[in-house]
Amino acid sequence: MGEVELTLLRPASPDALLDEEAFARDEFLPYWAELWPAATALAAALPAVAGLRVVELGCGLGLPSLVAAARGAEVTATDWAAEAVELLRENGARNGLSLHAEVRDWREPWPERFDLALAADVLYERRNVAPLLERLRELAPAAYVGLAGRPYEAEFLRNAGSVVEVAERVVALG
Ligand SMILES: C[S@@+](CC[C@H](N)C(=O)[O-])C[C@H]1O[C@@H](n2cnc3c(N)ncnc32)[C@H](O)[C@@H]1O
Repeated sequence: MGEVELTLLRPASPDALLDEEAFARDEFLPYWAELWPAATALAAALPAVAGLRVVELGCGLGLPSLVAAARGAEVTATDWAAEAVELLRENGARNGLSLHAEVRDWREPWPERFDLALAADVLYERRNVAPLLERLRELAPAAYVGLAGRPYEAEFLRNAGSVVEVAERVVALG
């Protein structure tokens, strides 16, 4: 990631994390355990973030959050998967980075506010579109979103207001 060098622990076999009960409850799948290309693209396209309060939604392994923390942002990384949050805390410590990681479901509001919101490859189901638009708008005045060519991204972008492509696969919402 440019001048940022990181070492990341990640699950050897994401498929082994499938949990039928969690799927039956909330259609939960362990997507957090993969490093998706949209996350790499978003991490590479981050704007200057030193001194900013940055939040990431659906962070999974949290590469954009780690890079933002390495560049001097005050980062809160969130995911609904507790294992993702735990591993990100460990990866932050392993890389000597200070970063706050917590379990959050993007369908639910929370009172904190930030300068910049991040999200990568989160638009793979229609049910994600409306709550993500709402949360990203509410949490910060600007957002960077890493895209993955998923079918529901078009609907998201149509409803997102001002959208600027800042890099291949990455858009900024103002
Ligand atoms: C395709 S993965 C992308 C992970 C990571 N952003 C990346 O690009 O490598 C989607 C992520 O969204 C998280 N997620 C799905 N639904 C969520 C929800 N309602 N609230 C918070 N996180 C959610 C998943 O746990 C997973 O980490």
